[in-house]
Amino acid sequence: MSKLLRHPWTTAATAVAGAGALALGYATLIERNAFTLRTQTMEVLAPGSATLRVLHISDLHMMPNQKLKQDWIRELDRLEPDLVINTGDNLAHPKAVPAVVQALGGLLARPGLFIFGSNDYFGPLPKNPLKYFDKNHKRVAGEPLPWKDLRAAFNERGWLDTTHNRRELRVGGVRISAAGVDDPHLKRDRYDTIAGPANPEADLRIALTHAPEPSILDKFAADGYDLALAGHTHGGQLCLPLYGALVTNCGIDRSRVKGPSRWGAHMRLHVSAGLGTSPYAPARFLCPPEATLLTLVPVKSDTVRTLETKGVSRFEAGVR
Ligand SMILES: [Fe+2]
Repeated sequence: MSKLLRHPWTTAATAVAGAGALALGYATLIERNAFTLRTQTMEVLAPGSATLRVLHISDLHMMPNQKLKQDWIRELDRLEPDLVINTGDNLAHPKAVPAVVQALGGLLARPGLFIFGSNDYFGPLPKNPLKYFDKNHKRVAGEPLPWKDLRAAFNERGWLDTTHNRRELRVGGVRISAAGVDDPHLKRDRYDTIAGPANPEADLRIALTHAPEPSILDKFAADGYDLALAGHTHGGQLCLPLYGALVTNCGIDRSRVKGPSRWGAHMRLHVSAGLGTSPYAPARFLCPPEATLLTLVPVKSDTVRTLETKGVSRFEAGVR
């Protein structure tokens, strides 16, 4: 049959299939490996504090053979961050611990805080992507992963595990009080183990949770934390032009799926879109894998005045 006689619907279907194949090829071969450093300034420190540069990494989902990703992560040490925060989902294979530790390299010699996510405890499984649209879908755990080995390696290098721990540290002249919960996505969070007002003497009160579930964020906000850091969402992973993420895979709304936002009158939230994907869903579209260099600066006095006129106390506004 000549091209001139081809039915218009056949031509349209061929064009759609071709565009789909191109998009899939781009998402799996190109964007999934287009590692990106995002930079962000956030006003969260007590007035008069020194600036603090925090590298936020998350959701590495590392496989032993992912050399491109490992090389890119290794280079992040050249940023010379004051503090590294890792919000979990490091592993995608039972033999990936050495690859994670070697990729983090020099970053492990810097001050660091971490918590774990579901993909530190259990390996990935094939999953119907449509299940992400059903918030109540039954979750099935994969094979156990060597998270204790990973924790031992992080601890050995000096990173602090904030899983159900409250930690006090001083970095670059900034007094930091930090606390975290185990992964709410697996219902392993036990907020009562860290509950209570965050240290009012600190210049920065940091909260860590792998999945940014609203019920946990509300508790951190009520206890006076300044900044909550989370991962888990992968920024939606597959996004649409002019619409963004289709799902967050947790209770937060799509507008907070990645990047900075407010959570209540005082607390700020930063969600990392992460650096990896499940090996069973190896695609990203309009949502490149990322690490974020957060430059934390003092709250401006105008911001404090605005909050105070809205009835937010000086303690809640981060001013002591
Ligand atoms: Fe993840």
